[in-house]
Amino acid sequence: MLLRALCALAACASVARAELDETDYTPIVVPLAVRSPYLGAYLTGREDKTLVSMDPHFWTTLPLGWKGLLRVDGHTWNWMGNLTDWPAATNASIRHTASESGFTLTNDPPTVALHASFLSPVTPADLFRQSIPFSYLHLSAESLDGQAHDVDVYSEVNGLWLADEEHEELEWAVHEPERGTGRDFVGVRARLKHQRPFEEAYHNDLWSDEWVSTDRILQGDLWYAAQDVPGSTVRTTFAAGDDAMTTRRLFAESGSLRSVVNTTQPRPTRTRRAHNASLVLDEPVFALAHSFGRISPASPPEDRSALVAIGHVRDPLVQYMTGTSGHKEVVALRPLWASTFVDVAHLVGWFLVDYPTAKRMSDEFNAKLYADARAVESQEYAHVVAVSTRQIFMALEAVWDESVEGRDAREGLVTWSPLTGEPVPTMIMLKEISSNGNCQTVDVIAPILPFLLYASPTLIPLLLEPIHRYMASGLYVPVPPTHDLGDHYPNATAHNDFLHPNLPIEEAGNALCLQLAGMRVADPSTAALSAHERVSHWVDKASSKASSWAGRNKEAQRVGWEADVGVGKDHRREGARMARAQARERYALLKKWADYLEEESLYPGDQRTTDDFFGSAPNQTSLVVKGIMGLRAMSEIASDLGETADRDYYLDVSNRFRDTFLDMTVSKDGTHILGTYNNQSSWVTHYNLYFDKLFDTKVFPDSVYRMLDAFYPTVAQPYGPPLDSRFPDRAKTDWLAWAAALFPRSSPSSSSSRTLFLDALARYFRQDRNAVFGDSITPDEGWSVGFLSRPVAGGHYSLLGLAVLAQARADAAATTLLSRSRSSLSQSLLALAALVALTVVALVGARGVRRCVRRRSGYVELGGGRRRAGSRGASRVSVDGVWGVGSPRSVFELAELEDEGDEGAGEGEGEEESWRLRRPPQGGLSASAGHGGKRRD
Ligand SMILES: *[C@@H]1O[C@H](CO)[C@@H](O)[C@H](O)[C@H]1NC(C)=O
Ligand SMILES: *[C@@H]1O[C@H](CO)[C@@H](O)[C@H](O)[C@H]1NC(C)=O
Ligand SMILES: *[C@@H]1O[C@H](CO)[C@@H](O)[C@H](O)[C@H]1NC(C)=O
Ligand SMILES: *[C@@H]1O[C@H](CO)[C@@H](O)[C@H](O)[C@H]1NC(C)=O
Ligand SMILES: *[C@@H]1O[C@H](CO)[C@@H](O)[C@H](O)[C@H]1NC(C)=O
Ligand SMILES: *[C@@H]1O[C@H](CO)[C@@H](O)[C@H](O)[C@H]1NC(C)=O
Repeated sequence: MLLRALCALAACASVARAELDETDYTPIVVPLAVRSPYLGAYLTGREDKTLVSMDPHFWTTLPLGWKGLLRVDGHTWNWMGNLTDWPAATNASIRHTASESGFTLTNDPPTVALHASFLSPVTPADLFRQSIPFSYLHLSAESLDGQAHDVDVYSEVNGLWLADEEHEELEWAVHEPERGTGRDFVGVRARLKHQRPFEEAYHNDLWSDEWVSTDRILQGDLWYAAQDVPGSTVRTTFAAGDDAMTTRRLFAESGSLRSVVNTTQPRPTRTRRAHNASLVLDEPVFALAHSFGRISPASPPEDRSALVAIGHVRDPLVQYMTGTSGHKEVVALRPLWASTFVDVAHLVGWFLVDYPTAKRMSDEFNAKLYADARAVESQEYAHVVAVSTRQIFMALEAVWDESVEGRDAREGLVTWSPLTGEPVPTMIMLKEISSNGNCQTVDVIAPILPFLLYASPTLIPLLLEPIHRYMASGLYVPVPPTHDLGDHYPNATAHNDFLHPNLPIEEAGNALCLQLAGMRVADPSTAALSAHERVSHWVDKASSKASSWAGRNKEAQRVGWEADVGVGKDHRREGARMARAQARERYALLKKWADYLEEESLYPGDQRTTDDFFGSAPNQTSLVVKGIMGLRAMSEIASDLGETADRDYYLDVSNRFRDTFLDMTVSKDGTHILGTYNNQSSWVTHYNLYFDKLFDTKVFPDSVYRMLDAFYPTVAQPYGPPLDSRFPDRAKTDWLAWAAALFPRSSPSSSSSRTLFLDALARYFRQDRNAVFGDSITPDEGWSVGFLSRPVAGGHYSLLGLAVLAQARADAAATTLLSRSRSSLSQSLLALAALVALTVVALVGARGVRRCVRRRSGYVELGGGRRRAGSRGASRVSVDGVWGVGSPRSVFELAELEDEGDEGAGEGEGEEESWRLRRPPQGGLSASAGHGGKRRD
């Protein structure tokens, strides 16, 4: 007995220790540079994956050329990409966070360690930073034996970052450091000579024998750039377009490169010998070498480290269908960063300077994520969500919305530029990664919802906006929301032909639930508090112990990423504000969708649910639940907008549907809910019930949840219950996570379906036989079956999303309490509170307060900081590694001023001119009105 108790104690202690270590985890795939649909590099492979023995792969699993050499005292080792002409460096450790994958490698015997850290920043509250299509590689060397060593580090990329086809011709150029401009970097740029805007490459797929997209775009530039700070002891040299073998040998022999642009261009990515394809004769590479000189244990870090940026840049980004009835227009949308930077060189310069901030913000997010995931569940769950994070953003791209609708920036849908402090009209575009490349797929946005609620609530209205706007244009005649905005990214040219893949109930229910979730993520009514109420609010938040309002003093224990976006703007309230404004504007549209659900969702026709491979079938109860929850969401939206008649109407419909549903779907033996009406042996994983828990609407009685809680263990396999009894060999990881959230957290002794679903998910993440991560899996053996690297991994955040909305409800209740107490409390008390608050503000000073708020939020506020007297408005001021701007200015002014300041600064060569980004044609690319498609009467 005693022994058992001791063992339990010991186990407890070891668990506690393990929980402190966030790095004891190597995921199935290790993300390296994951930022956009066309910048997605992973270290794939099985349990034996190492950076040394293989090339990083694009998310489609095809190899990219990314190689590295390390030279210590004249001897060369290979540290990345399997260059077998040199001995392999020893893989010493891997460290993984939600945003960073760090490797440590050594020579042999180990005298020097190379730390190679791949950071794809995760700054979900700052969508401006998040949308920059660049990723960092931080390289630093360390002496392990106390001696001084000569160290040079080399890395190279090739044309496979632009296209899979080796015959594609490349051209290249170099950005040399422009001293004193903030663009002190060496940057090599390469692109396909034959640019084909918005076009992806197609190839004949060996397995399906079909002509399919390779998911590589034939537009845009690859950038490989390194900081080259004046006065630094690190010497950076480059190769641009020289042959790979020549370049590597030169580095191995001399430790540096020639820094000359090879003028024999264009050349193909690879030229192979005619009669022996395994022999590569020529391969232009883009390489950087950093000579640290002699490093010793005493060398300061900056003398033995280098910062590299890798990016894939397009401008414009997507084609978007817009217009009003009878008139359609396709416009080219530019990237969000183009609102602030005149060209890519400015962007790259800033991105490199911004590294400390981006890293700090990413680290803070990671730490909070681990703490929260442990609080709601466990360390293992924390690993699952952390690993899932980067690929969510891989699918998203932010566009600068220059349209008429987007211009009213302050009221509209915006992000805040951290450089100018200005709002920028924004929409977020999504590529349905891997499954078919659709644009803005509604049933792909929906599974991500839990992540959006937890980390980035403004994304909800920003992702919905392109759909709302298209649906409001009148170009699409069917009533339910479109499934997507285009067959293939980056063409959001929509479906004026009204063809859709037959999931209208799914999409209508999703759209309404997404809209409501966006509105409910915060209580925007607190924004309407008077100024002195806000002050007392703030004082209360700050003096954590003296709080009188429930929950307000538990800031540290609150689950969820809380951050300011723009000066003093909280991203939850901003998200809720935008989603409400959007719902108000599109109210008529939302009602039409609800009316469609009323007509169609109780007895669904021959329709499909989200997951393609099951095909369509009538009377699927999963769709009925979606319909009921969509109708209930409409009632709640109406309630929030003060439309009481609609609130009551849709509440009544959803309740009636629910009653009929329960009559028809509880199995005769009372063990489960049927998967299809009238089929007693059918069942499904009822992930759509998640919305009932999310909104705390209690549409379905507890008895239903208890029944399912007892049922799922009876049909479970090692990797979870199948999604649908008709297809026992498929489960979906996102729906496993959603289903887990239907059930309460169990005590360690009891088991429940929640544990069952979560264990299955975690087991899959530990299943290292898979070379890549996919969300469609076999429940018996945990094999990944297609659906690779998709953003729906955001669904794994289900428990965290749930916690965030629960808190938002508690906040709303507290606010109600606050406004009640206002009337009951004597005015003098409030006045006193305000007085105390004002005194605090005066004492600490407004800047201190701001800093205080800032530190918690992780947002760098611009416009403060150390401003040089007499400097021009747009001169750069160092604030945490960011160029501040004297006062918030128009984005256009900033661009112009910087342009003016740079005149004549190192832009001489004629070649340089051809590299300047061309502005896309004004007013859209094609305005083909022509045939409006077949109308459905
Ligand atoms: C590394 O290269 C060698 C020689 O070219 C090759 O045999 C081996 O398969 C490669 N390793 C991987 C993991 O691709
Ligand atoms: C590489 O290092 C990691 C971390 O120590 C280890 O888990 C992995 O097995 C190593 N791989 C090889 C091939 O040594
Ligand atoms: C997008 O549309 C253009 C025509 O505007 C076409 O050339 C291109 O192939 C399309 N891209 C994809 C990925 O389908
Ligand atoms: C440029 O590359 C080509 C092809 O590899 C090579 O033949 C040529 O010598 C290079 N030019 C210079 C100046 O090195
Ligand atoms: C092709 O070249 C490789 C590498 O040099 C060599 O090992 C191989 O024998 C060659 N194959 C043929 C068919 O000549
Ligand atoms: C769907 O279920 C209803 C109610 O049981 C039934 O009347 C109807 O025929 C079913 N539809 C189909 C297509 O099977």
